[in-house]
Amino acid sequence: MDEKQLFDVALDAKSVLDANQRGKHTLPSAGPYTHQWLWDSCFIAIGLRHYDITRAQDEILSLLKAQWSNGMLPHMIFSSSDSHSKDKDIWRSWLSLYAPDDYATSGITQPPMLAEAIVQIGKKLDKQSMRSWYQTVYPALLKYHQWLYKERDPHHEGLVLQIHPYETGLDNTPPWIHELHEHHKPWWVRGIEKANLQRFGRLFRRDLKHIKSEERINDIDALLYYSALLRLRRKRYDIDLILKHSLFSIEDLTFNSIFIRANQHLVSIAKAIGREIDPELLAQFKRSEVALDNLWDAYSSQYYSRDHVSHKLIKIPTIATLMPLYAGCISKERAAALVKHLYSSQSFGTNYPIPSVPASSNWFQPTGYWQGPTWLNTNWLIIDGLKRYGFKDVAEAVSMSSVEMVQAHGCYEYFNPLDGTPAGIPNFSWTASLAIDLIQTSPSMNIKNIDKKLHVPVVDEIIETTEHVEAIN
Ligand code: GLC
Repeated sequence: MDEKQLFDVALDAKSVLDANQRGKHTLPSAGPYTHQWLWDSCFIAIGLRHYDITRAQDEILSLLKAQWSNGMLPHMIFSSSDSHSKDKDIWRSWLSLYAPDDYATSGITQPPMLAEAIVQIGKKLDKQSMRSWYQTVYPALLKYHQWLYKERDPHHEGLVLQIHPYETGLDNTPPWIHELHEHHKPWWVRGIEKANLQRFGRLFRRDLKHIKSEERINDIDALLYYSALLRLRRKRYDIDLILKHSLFSIEDLTFNSIFIRANQHLVSIAKAIGREIDPELLAQFKRSEVALDNLWDAYSSQYYSRDHVSHKLIKIPTIATLMPLYAGCISKERAAALVKHLYSSQSFGTNYPIPSVPASSNWFQPTGYWQGPTWLNTNWLIIDGLKRYGFKDVAEAVSMSSVEMVQAHGCYEYFNPLDGTPAGIPNFSWTASLAIDLIQTSPSMNIKNIDKKLHVPVVDEIIETTEHVEAIN
């Protein structure tokens, strides 16, 4: 790709991010996603920082305003001013003592990408502004990490547990769907399945108005998500009640890998502003790095998520197996063993890597949401890990093929890993922002002075200029 083509990608990406902007935050896309999502906003800020640092900061600050008093950051903050304002009644966050009064939110979290986004923004600031940025966000960030340990690692195992597939961000990833069917299939869903009535559930599915059904989760799985949500809501999002009789909680590999990296970032943020982290919390960080090893299966040379109750690995391979590269705490030998999977076309080395499920898996469907497609956010995480382990060429190859897909087809939600064709929703914000970031952080694609080049005057500025000219005349 030449510089002109790369710049066109960046320009198109910026227009997607502009169209999806709503005040101080950005929607994942203006289609079915009319609220603010936690990890989406973090990925969005990572791209925005290259040309609009204030907007990147606002994106993060707008997440913090809805933090629960116990420290949780909710995975969705509902918009009240749109046609989907009823969505908040599904979650009813106000049932929890800890939910904020001013914002309706979901009652669960999403992978803790916050620290990464904060640090990436910090890299674009001078020393003094970086410090004041860190000082502003540090208390909320620290409280979030403390909450994760307190509520989600009740037995001090070092691994935090998740209670709903939405918490992983990889909604229908096979290990979670497998566990949902095993441990969380209420009688009424069994009844609907037996009578083959699930298609009626479609009447309530807004996502299918925008996307083909084969690119989304199936109807029974959608009902299982809903019933898992109802259970959390019945327990008023109180973790003690939730875990009391539940057989359904998972120490998710992607979530824990991201958390380990986020802890490393938290330490560096604290250091930059001269804050001491409680030694007990530091010991928990260490324990998490060590505990990741419990998710390794030497027989298949892969990492897996683990059932929190039985402590059994859920041995269904997915892209999560590569996420410890991002965690950064595994040995170089282990990292090299993971990279091998990227060289096999039967595994993760498809024509347009990295598929969310290996190509040889029985679960693999090239456009099946988190059961096959290539997504830019998971690519971004793995690229970042590859770079830190010194696999620079592989990282560059994945960056280039990610940007190529966007250049050829636009900022789609995800792509077919076999031929790079687009799927899901068009004009998807994190695809746009991460395309910009991958271009800017790649040694061979980087556009010089992108901030100035992308600064297209906004309408108000144009009007002001015209008035100014008229005044002079
Ligand atoms: C879907 C994705 C999730 C994302 C959300 C909003 O639920 O699985 O990762 O945060 O959409 O884009």
